[in-house]
Amino acid sequence: MARLTMARRSSRDRLWWWAVFVGCALPLAALGGWAATGDLGVNPIETIVRHLGDWALRLLVLTLALTPLRHLTGSTRPVRYRRMIGLWAFAYAVLHVTAYTVLDIGLHGPTLVDDLTQRPYIMVGMAALLLLIPLAATSTTGMIKRLGGRRWRRLHRLVYAAGLLGAGHYLLMVKADITQPMIYIALLGLLYGVRAGRWLAGRPV
Ligand code: HEM
Repeated sequence: MARLTMARRSSRDRLWWWAVFVGCALPLAALGGWAATGDLGVNPIETIVRHLGDWALRLLVLTLALTPLRHLTGSTRPVRYRRMIGLWAFAYAVLHVTAYTVLDIGLHGPTLVDDLTQRPYIMVGMAALLLLIPLAATSTTGMIKRLGGRRWRRLHRLVYAAGLLGAGHYLLMVKADITQPMIYIALLGLLYGVRAGRWLAGRPV
């Protein structure tokens, strides 16, 4: 009986794992589909760079929402997929920067160094990406063991700054309507506020 329950639980876990994986991969597949059918709009490079940037930030914010969601619902399921969703956020960020560097700058731009010094939003985006690199590099179980839980958790607090820098990059980029980046900033403010509240109350964050 216990073995049957375990088997059921593990097949349900596998199903969940695949559902989350496919959910994270879908925006990339959609982009591939639009490229194949020539549906990338009047400015294909802009569509590609923006779509990848949007999903990097969405998944990063989702990663940050999973622990508060666990506290809210009492279910541990959301945090079980935190590493996978975080790695997808990183993958989208890398693809976003690669698409920009290769397609935009590579085809008709200056150099990334010129851009970094002349456009503050690029500098902020780069800072966000640089913070995500050690997080992705230490996301394996082996690295968690090697660093030890405490040091690993301390290092992974960088994700809070990366989220803010990602949203700040978006805010600095837009010229007129700041609604979208402000939504991300408000969401991050809410998530960090919830954590700060728990921390002040001496509860685990
Ligand atoms: C070296 C690092 C980065 C560079 C060079 C870069 C470059 C860019 C550029 C050029 C755009 C504007 C695209 C356009 O106007 O056509 C953009 C937009 C954006 N980027 Fe980045 N980015 C970087 C890092 C990041 C990171 C780490 C994130 C997320 C965590 C991110 C999220 C976004 C978002 C959300 C947008 C706005 C998309 C939209 O308008 O819908 N970027 N980025």
